[in-house]
Amino acid sequence: MKRNYKKTIWLGMVILIIAFTWIKWDIWFYNPPEPKYSPSPSPARIMLTWSDNPLSSRDVTWEGDTSTHQGFLQISDNAIPGDTILYRSNAKIIRSSGGSSTFFKVHIKDLRQGRLYHYRVSNNKIWSDWFDFKIGNSTDASYSFVYFGDVQDTINGSSGNLFHRAIESRPQSAFMIFIGDMIERPHDAYWGEWFKSGGTLFRTIPVIATPGNHEYYKSLIGTLDERWMAHFSFPQNGPENFRGRACYWDYMNTRYISIDSNGIQSLPSALEQRSWVKGVLENTRQKWIVIIMHHPPYSTSRGHNYFFLRALFKPLFDRYNVDLILSGHDHAYGRAVHIQNKLTDNKQGAAYVVAHASPKFYEIGFSDKMDKLASNTPSYQLFDVSADSIRFEAYTRNGISLDGFTIRKDASGNRTVTVHAPPNSRDLLKPTDLFLKKNSQKEIDRFNMEMEQWEKSRK
Ligand SMILES: [Fe+2]
Repeated sequence: MKRNYKKTIWLGMVILIIAFTWIKWDIWFYNPPEPKYSPSPSPARIMLTWSDNPLSSRDVTWEGDTSTHQGFLQISDNAIPGDTILYRSNAKIIRSSGGSSTFFKVHIKDLRQGRLYHYRVSNNKIWSDWFDFKIGNSTDASYSFVYFGDVQDTINGSSGNLFHRAIESRPQSAFMIFIGDMIERPHDAYWGEWFKSGGTLFRTIPVIATPGNHEYYKSLIGTLDERWMAHFSFPQNGPENFRGRACYWDYMNTRYISIDSNGIQSLPSALEQRSWVKGVLENTRQKWIVIIMHHPPYSTSRGHNYFFLRALFKPLFDRYNVDLILSGHDHAYGRAVHIQNKLTDNKQGAAYVVAHASPKFYEIGFSDKMDKLASNTPSYQLFDVSADSIRFEAYTRNGISLDGFTIRKDASGNRTVTVHAPPNSRDLLKPTDLFLKKNSQKEIDRFNMEMEQWEKSRK
């Protein structure tokens, strides 16, 4: 009798797992077929990055069709008009189910600080326009950068306005950070859309990025779209199985560390990244440490909780006094500056920011960790970094001030944070139209009650 009872329980569990997997099959495993595409014969998707010393080198990647296997880059120093250096690049062909493209990559060396450079690229004997970039000076007292959360724009979307608005506010930006999910799914058309939105910005200001789940093909272990590696020439200083996607960049007095938060599904890959992050943090001598990771350790979205990610990395962030963690994925804005560091004397923990730049909004989860929350708007974020402070500002898509804080750190590494943000806006806390349409009045009432409680607790 007892044996039969056990059998029934087991059978019930198996049926439940099968039913749950069947319901979630499309979300977890289905990759819609990629529509056919033909790349342009002329140079396209020109992208500026760096993989080495940012004060003496740059990398340029671009795309062409498969009719040529050789690309060229011509670069000129402003000080010597007409005198150019020529670099060659062999094509890498990438085939997907929708078509084939060639990708070119050039690593430009021996650049000089403070100089303005002009470059152009070619394939198929067709040259692009000339573009400029400037190399910073090691003596610069400060620098700025911009940061965008998930983009996931629709075809012919409007995220380009947001990118340009951010750069208009910080035209001197040393680089732009993208936090993953730049594309809706790994299809060429979506990559094309993102590059179209970036336009000339991507050719003149270097890009730093970390992968999001939407750059991965769905499967049990997930496979990163090969076009990611072709578009982004990043430092190869990451853990062996995550080269070019988990890595770090040093810029002036700051170390930026990208964790591939998609790559923690299995215990070995989670531990591989953790041990690498620990090693990098141990050896960091820069004044400021910034982590970029697609999934946020502290969620801003209803029903999301990244417990495993937090358990893996938060102790390291505390132990090594990380200053800032930038994330996305949740499609709702959030900022936390009062999460304590429990492992060192520096009680002021890191600042956590979660942002998105997408037309797709998720519901806010009213976490008591968050000091600031907002939904129903994409946002852009600006940073000004100096020897003793990092100043942060966030704006809605209409350029309205959303948030702001300044981190200061003294010579002994003691951190303080000052918030200079407008009050939380009820309009930006409300449920989305989709939530109102899809949920019962009881559920809506519960949302409103949680919203009011959270608002009161923040006053
Ligand atoms: Fe995501």
